[in-house]
Amino acid sequence: MRLRKSRSPKGTGKIKGATGSSGSRITGVGGYRPERVIPNSEIVDAIDSSDEWIRERSGITERRFARPDESVVDMAEAASKGAIAMAGIDQSDIDAVLVATVTHPYQTPAAAPILADRFDLRCAAFDISAACAGYCHGISLASDMVRGGSASNVLVVGVEKLSDFTDMTDRSTAFIFGDGAGAAIVSRSDKTKIGPTVWGSEGDSWQTIMQRESWTEFRGNDEKTWPTIGMEGHKVFRWAVWGMAPVAQKAMEAAGVKASDLDAFIPHQANMRIIDAMIKQLKLPEDIVVARDIATTANTSAASIPLATERMLREGQVQSGSLALQIGFGAGLVYAAQVVELP
Ligand SMILES: CC(C)(COP(=O)(O)OP(=O)(O)OC[C@H]1O[C@@H](n2cnc3c(N)ncnc32)[C@H](O)[C@@H]1OP(=O)(O)O)[C@@H](O)C(=O)NCCC(=O)NCCS
Repeated sequence: MRLRKSRSPKGTGKIKGATGSSGSRITGVGGYRPERVIPNSEIVDAIDSSDEWIRERSGITERRFARPDESVVDMAEAASKGAIAMAGIDQSDIDAVLVATVTHPYQTPAAAPILADRFDLRCAAFDISAACAGYCHGISLASDMVRGGSASNVLVVGVEKLSDFTDMTDRSTAFIFGDGAGAAIVSRSDKTKIGPTVWGSEGDSWQTIMQRESWTEFRGNDEKTWPTIGMEGHKVFRWAVWGMAPVAQKAMEAAGVKASDLDAFIPHQANMRIIDAMIKQLKLPEDIVVARDIATTANTSAASIPLATERMLREGQVQSGSLALQIGFGAGLVYAAQVVELP
């Protein structure tokens, strides 16, 4: 057989590039909190705890749980409507949908295309699995997408129904998690209103927060104990307190801002004591507004930062144009932080 000689390559710089915008910005945020309020008193008996202990160790007084028939996509849709309304765009202007979640209960398909369909959209749609850092990963991707020219308006959603994956008899997690959704629209902009993202992973610690059994182990398990999320609380606490303040600091440096330039600090709502420790380490001035949504919303993983943001804007704690430092961190272990101008 005669071997064909390879011909000279055709791709000699002929591909046309996409044109993006010079900057990006968040043009709207929205939030959805399920109706059912679960006070600590409803949790304590099953874990031999007390309202006082939970408040003191975590700062949580209550959380919201979704209805059994209320899905991750339902909550995402409700939050998205608020973000679209604030952005003042038509839903048909959205050209990519990113959903950050770890509790959409289907291995496939992702939640994002189902959410896109709720808005009659046929655009690019995919999920992000970065746990409590998912929203900040989404903002980073969306910002790069509009600047790179692959989208003009991106819907970014952080949504969780953690009540489906929590063992209500587990002392280390039962009181921590809540359900909810937060959404943002990221749009093209002449000015830079989303700073560079500082992000990373520490996969050697993947077992510190994890679904206890894989789906395949669950299938082979005759006892069939529903896989829930387990956590080594102490380790996660130390990592968050000591490891995440330097990441937040780097995000400020990357954006060229100092702590005194900030109006708001919106960290992932994991534990009030973690938030307080980060404020101390970052030496944040006292006049900076700090998100403390965890008290009544608990830890809603990917939803926690957009939910806290939506509340701070709605309650007038911050205004449109406020400069905020946001940082997400969680299972993986993974993290992402950036400075943003609020819509
Ligand atoms: C979960 C967490 C609040 C526990 O607080 P902690 O101070 O580390 O608690 P410990 O596990 O050291 O336990 C301290 C004591 O409280 C007890 N305790 C633990 N859980 C309890 C509970 N739910 N109720 C009452 N007592 C509890 C322990 O038995 C222990 O008692 P002892 O001192 O008599 O032995 C804390 O580790 C934490 O917030 N971790 C990070 C969680 C987080 O952010 N997760 C999400 C990251 S994305």
